[in-house]
Amino acid sequence: MTTLGTPLSPSATKVMLLGSGELGKEVLIALQRLGVETIAVDRYENAPGQQVAHHARTITMSDPAQLKALIEAERPHLVVPEIEAIATPMLEELEAAGTVRVIPTARAARLTMDREGIRVLAAETLGLPTSPYKFCDSLQELQAAIDGGIGYPCIVKPVMSSSGKGQSKIDGPADVKKAWDYAMAGGRVSHGRVIVEGFIDFDYEITQLTVRAVGADGQIDTQFCEPIGHVQVSGDYVESWQPMAMSTAAIDKSRQIAKAVTDNLGGQGLFGVELFVKGDQVWFSEVSPRPHDTGLVTLCTQHQSEFELHARAILGLPVDTSLRNPGASAVIYGGVDATGIAFDGVDEALRVPGTDLRLFGKPESFVKRRMGVALARAADTDTARANAKLAAGKVKPRLA
Ligand SMILES: Nc1ncnc2c1ncn2[C@@H]1O[C@H](COP(=O)(O)OP(=O)(O)OP(=O)(O)O)[C@@H](O)[C@H]1O
Ligand SMILES: [Mg+2]
Repeated sequence: MTTLGTPLSPSATKVMLLGSGELGKEVLIALQRLGVETIAVDRYENAPGQQVAHHARTITMSDPAQLKALIEAERPHLVVPEIEAIATPMLEELEAAGTVRVIPTARAARLTMDREGIRVLAAETLGLPTSPYKFCDSLQELQAAIDGGIGYPCIVKPVMSSSGKGQSKIDGPADVKKAWDYAMAGGRVSHGRVIVEGFIDFDYEITQLTVRAVGADGQIDTQFCEPIGHVQVSGDYVESWQPMAMSTAAIDKSRQIAKAVTDNLGGQGLFGVELFVKGDQVWFSEVSPRPHDTGLVTLCTQHQSEFELHARAILGLPVDTSLRNPGASAVIYGGVDATGIAFDGVDEALRVPGTDLRLFGKPESFVKRRMGVALARAADTDTARANAKLAAGKVKPRLA
């Protein structure tokens, strides 16, 4: 039996989000609707999720001492990582000491913050199909890995980075040094380790949202959402839609891979499993043990969005992963470097049939920062994609 309390009272069920961007904001709203007391943590003030939570805290989450002090002071029932750049060994320590429960597990947060941890688990421990890869600590090692079998084209990524930061494609020997230097500048920490992956010439890529939630028998059940197709530009998502039309063989293979990796990571919650597909062949790419940016589309396609699914799963509540209607999402970028920007054309965007918008409320805009997303539902994904892009294009960010 699951019991929830009253926020701001001694009975409160308290949940702390580590990272309070646009994805955390939607998880916080879903928790608020269930009367959960929420604590939104981020590295800067007035982060999107902090604007909708009971409490806002601003710390450096990669600093183990600050993280420990905050968790011990607030004593949340659950700690929910929403970003990768967190002092995860400290989360493991606090989880082991019984101080807090980490979603889905502290080990999953640690393994997925580093491309090496999750890749070695997927490819070597679980034997899942992935691109060929090598880890390298210098330009010389990178060149040797390429010459020794990875070949061209290939992709270089800092082991600690996300949203395509520091990532580039190498088409031939002339690009190797440039890719190394770019990775050194783009990583989250400066220890200079990269992964080089053979380029997979996929037909399309998907996110397989996968939920581990408590079933009627009290055991953890794995449930799948319909596949999400998406387009990435320079390693950052610009457009997604659901459902992605796939062969039965490719869907089965995708779900087998998603089940294997999420079974191993364990715990309760929603995962975004990124997969490459060519014909009936499927490769594992990576996994987020939390809602996925491409899954923003579920705000207009599912009975329960990925954020509601995550909120329910972590609280031990039942989930419904079914699709309501096809739909699509299209990203709205800042277009300007400025604080406190304004958005023109919101009314025109919302006049596009079947559309909705999320403006995240980020205090500072950058040209390539994701500031909002347009959502569109339609009878088919082609129409939804066209309408989502149309609506996104009508929103014009500008200096206020
Ligand atoms: N080995 C590969 N072969 C072909 N394309 C790839 C390969 N690795 C990455 N890509 C492309 O680059 C995109 C981003 O890669 P990846 O997901 O590893 O980076 P990321 O920085 O973690 O991005 P995000 O945080 O947005 O998920 C992929 O979605 C895919 O489009
Ligand atoms: Mg990715």
